[in-house]
Amino acid sequence: MTLCPSSHLLPLSNSPSPPPMAASLTTSSAASRLLLLPSASARAPLHRLSAPHSTNTSLAASSSYAFSPLKCRRYSPLPPRAFSNQRASSMSTVAAASDPAQLKSAREDIKEILNSKFCHPILVRLGWHDAGTYNKSIEEWPRRGGANGSLRFEIELKHAANAGLVNALSLLQPIKEKYSGVTYADLFQLASATAIEEAGGPKIPMKYGRVDVSSAEECPEEGRLPAAGPPSPADHLREVFYRMGLNDKEIVALSGAHTLGRSRPDRSGWGKPETKYTKNGPGAPGGQSWTAEWLKFDNSYFKDIKAQIDEDLLVLPTDAAIFEDPAFKVYAEKYAEDQDAFFKDYAEAHAKLSNLGAKFDPPEGIVLDGVQGEKFVAAKYSSGKKELSDAMKQKIRAEYQAVGGSPDKPLQSNYFLNIIIVIGVLAILTSLLGN
Ligand code: HEM
Repeated sequence: MTLCPSSHLLPLSNSPSPPPMAASLTTSSAASRLLLLPSASARAPLHRLSAPHSTNTSLAASSSYAFSPLKCRRYSPLPPRAFSNQRASSMSTVAAASDPAQLKSAREDIKEILNSKFCHPILVRLGWHDAGTYNKSIEEWPRRGGANGSLRFEIELKHAANAGLVNALSLLQPIKEKYSGVTYADLFQLASATAIEEAGGPKIPMKYGRVDVSSAEECPEEGRLPAAGPPSPADHLREVFYRMGLNDKEIVALSGAHTLGRSRPDRSGWGKPETKYTKNGPGAPGGQSWTAEWLKFDNSYFKDIKAQIDEDLLVLPTDAAIFEDPAFKVYAEKYAEDQDAFFKDYAEAHAKLSNLGAKFDPPEGIVLDGVQGEKFVAAKYSSGKKELSDAMKQKIRAEYQAVGGSPDKPLQSNYFLNIIIVIGVLAILTSLLGN
């Protein structure tokens, strides 16, 4: 297997130096000369629940969390190198919506990157972090945040919650350059949905045509994305996701995206530097995954959190909350038992997430495969039509035969009986009229 998400994008170094942020966007050839080595200094003792670290909150603020702390070191990014002015201005001219034919071709190119780099997880995270800034109480676009391509700007990439996502942007940049008729906002969401589908997940009823913001001034302020270790994880999840207009079911279903990928202490501050599941890749080694097969989209995230038997698998405080909070738990238990139910709810929630705050041109959006709006058919995800049991067949046969029929031929009408009934009714009516 070759390199994965970020492996070829970080500086070849033994020190835990930070990702070069947007500077790595300047050339894809430069990117291919770089290599990630896991940070030895960031190693942590093994704990099942890696606790109080947060992408958005301080260690002190989260240290009241009840789970045993994983003492991995929180990453302290150095000041990133800035975008060149030229890059910033060329990006700032993009505002029109996407072209359907180019979207389809771009999707094929994304599949190629997925197959060669195994970057499904980071592309999913990129799409989610562009959309997840949405605030439903703000009407005005793009101030309301959401899926508008603002995450391509350095100012937003520098938000602590987005650590490492510059690598995802670098992977997509050559595709963006090839297809001028595809907006960043669409490209991020196209890449995310394609990654889910290619990893074995459900078909997501996506639409496209998202308009891009055109300048860094239009980026949302920092702090709109969820933190991984807030003092009260369930309340925090509700506060953040309700602000986006998402509900409990959608919070739990979307959390299931952590069936893919890893957390890296040198990015978010969460997770172990490496585990038995990540030390050999695929792709860049290292990090701690939520599931053993972290490039396969299935319901193992819910099964593994429930089982909690493997110290090498990550459970963030916010992941634990979905089995602790009574209302979340109903869905978490259901998804652990029933992958079809998870896939159905995930596909709907992902599509909804991808549309948050987006401005579409045309307003109804562009559907690539005639899938958008199509009703979900659970049978698509189940193993096949169920046969009746022999006992049930016998019972049905006996019931048919008791009334003179058979399951193989329809019941015959009994003309004689019908005539008797008609005569009887007429006789009663005659006698009633006579009286
Ligand atoms: C519920 C609140 C959430 C929190 C607190 C959270 C937090 C995190 C953290 C801390 C990481 C590790 C990042 C790193 O170190 O590189 C991560 C990774 C990831 N997150 Fe979330 N996340 C949340 C929801 C979501 C949602 C809704 C999605 C998608 C729909 C998602 C998709 C991912 C993926 C795919 C990765 C792996 C990225 C990689 O391997 O590079 N997360 N998340």
